[in-house]
Amino acid sequence: MKFFLDTANIDHISEAHWMGIIDGVTTNPSLMAKEGVKGEDNIIAHYLKICEIVDGDVSAEVISTDYQGMISEGEKLAALHNQIVVKIPVTENGIRAIRYLTGKGIRTNCTLIFNPGQALLAAKAGATYVSPFIGRLDDIGENGMDLVEKLVHIFDVYGFNTEIIAASVRNTNHLLKCMETGVDVVTCPLNVITGLLNHPLTDTGLEKFLSDHRKLND
Ligand code: E4P
Repeated sequence: MKFFLDTANIDHISEAHWMGIIDGVTTNPSLMAKEGVKGEDNIIAHYLKICEIVDGDVSAEVISTDYQGMISEGEKLAALHNQIVVKIPVTENGIRAIRYLTGKGIRTNCTLIFNPGQALLAAKAGATYVSPFIGRLDDIGENGMDLVEKLVHIFDVYGFNTEIIAASVRNTNHLLKCMETGVDVVTCPLNVITGLLNHPLTDTGLEKFLSDHRKLND
């Protein structure tokens, strides 16, 4: 299972890279705004900075909603760096744009997936990745993990090459459950990944080892 960091925060990306635990980054316009990145030149510079830090795929989302706008934005983003994956929402224009960009050899991440039908259309259009959103389904009383489980099964049955990115992962429990589904990628904030390290028995066990050592050596 690959870990992507779901952030545009350079410090978090550098820290995760330094730990050697991330395989890529996903961003979206809200995450870019959260970091105060505005204006085309700054946005481009920010994507390039992220690509310099990490070795893997970096999803950069289009802002256009019309077909022509999506494909021209997608082509520009893809030309920035070979690690860039163009993130496109699962609308009718989005599906057409994914088909077009795939034909041009440009990799795409189809985002805002909330049901298996949307994911199937994106895969048929040739998306490199589809991103089902777990947390946002949970927010409205549905079960986001069910969607991930269904997609892993469906994509396996039909043998799609499209990889599934479990997105909108809000907590470490989501992450642990994702591991059991066999999903290809999980994208989440850094604290969700480092949360995997937390266990009270690790803390008390380490404290005991060190105090036993001190008793003999101080
Ligand atoms: C990733 O591709 C998504 O943009 C992101 O995971 C959304 O997460 P959120 O629902 O916590 O905003």
